[in-house]
Amino acid sequence: MSNQLLKGKKGIIFGALDESSIAWKVAETAFAEGAAITLTNAPVAMRMGKINELAKACHAEVIPADATSIDDLTNLFNKAREIHGGKIDFVLHSIGMSPNVRKKKSYTDLNYEFYLKTLDISAASFHKVCQVAYQTDAMLDYGSILALTYIAAQRTFPSYGDMADAKATLESIARGFGYHFGVKNKVRVNTISQSPTYTTAGSGVEGFDAFFNYANELSPLGNASAQDCANYCVMMFSDYARMITMQNLFHDGGFSFTGVSDKMMQRFLDHN
Ligand SMILES: NC(=O)c1ccc[n+]([C@@H]2O[C@H](COP(=O)([O-])OP(=O)(O)OC[C@H]3O[C@@H](n4cnc5c(N)ncnc54)[C@H](O)[C@@H]3O)[C@@H](O)[C@H]2O)c1
Repeated sequence: MSNQLLKGKKGIIFGALDESSIAWKVAETAFAEGAAITLTNAPVAMRMGKINELAKACHAEVIPADATSIDDLTNLFNKAREIHGGKIDFVLHSIGMSPNVRKKKSYTDLNYEFYLKTLDISAASFHKVCQVAYQTDAMLDYGSILALTYIAAQRTFPSYGDMADAKATLESIARGFGYHFGVKNKVRVNTISQSPTYTTAGSGVEGFDAFFNYANELSPLGNASAQDCANYCVMMFSDYARMITMQNLFHDGGFSFTGVSDKMMQRFLDHN
């Protein structure tokens, strides 16, 4: 079902690796809602992933960019403007990677070279995307920039490791740039805090099944799927969210504000 919510809008979507990626679903949904999109991912991911399949289905061009490289990002924004014949309406930053989490280094035994990489790829890259868009004046008035985050920025989930620090920084960048971009030309900058979702990045977290099931049992609505997340992103790109900026928006079926659920209580009652 399409309501053409993004009819006439042009966007750049980072982070579609394969069909399980949240960005993949966002690209499909934005396209179905009438947007013209440009896809991008790190050059290495291009070789491993299936982004060209998605590009074909969404009539999109793919421009490789390492989101930690200012040169790559500048080239990306310039090319996207050429392709779309003008400035951009929306950007999705859907990027996360921690070498420490990948190599199962615990939070009390971090490798600091890896730590800097985690922060660069998963958080500073968002600042770089915003800064390049800001300095090249790439965004249309009331444009919308979104990044995806996780509640480990506010509460401790031990196996999420140094990604929690990256997500806290990411959310802070949305507030910082949201101010400056709002003053410059009314561009909105927000983060969406998504439920655990089965993707390449998500499943890399140790004990992901338990994470997923715990959140699903606690949340009154259950976990939000990648498709639900894509629908929410599209709404945030649309004109219906014109005055929302600098927010961290929980998209988690109520998980963030639930203390305990009856289902969870029952487990402990059964135990005694
Ligand atoms: N899956 C979950 O449970 C979950 C929950 C909340 C938030 N998120 C967030 O959603 C976002 C998307 O992740 P996903 O779950 O769809 O997993 P994913 O693995 O499909 O996507 C992560 C993407 O980051 C890209 N990437 C890594 N390094 C990059 C670089 N240097 N430059 C450009 N791109 C780079 C990867 O190629 C990949 O496409 C991430 O920010 C993640 O933290 C995921």
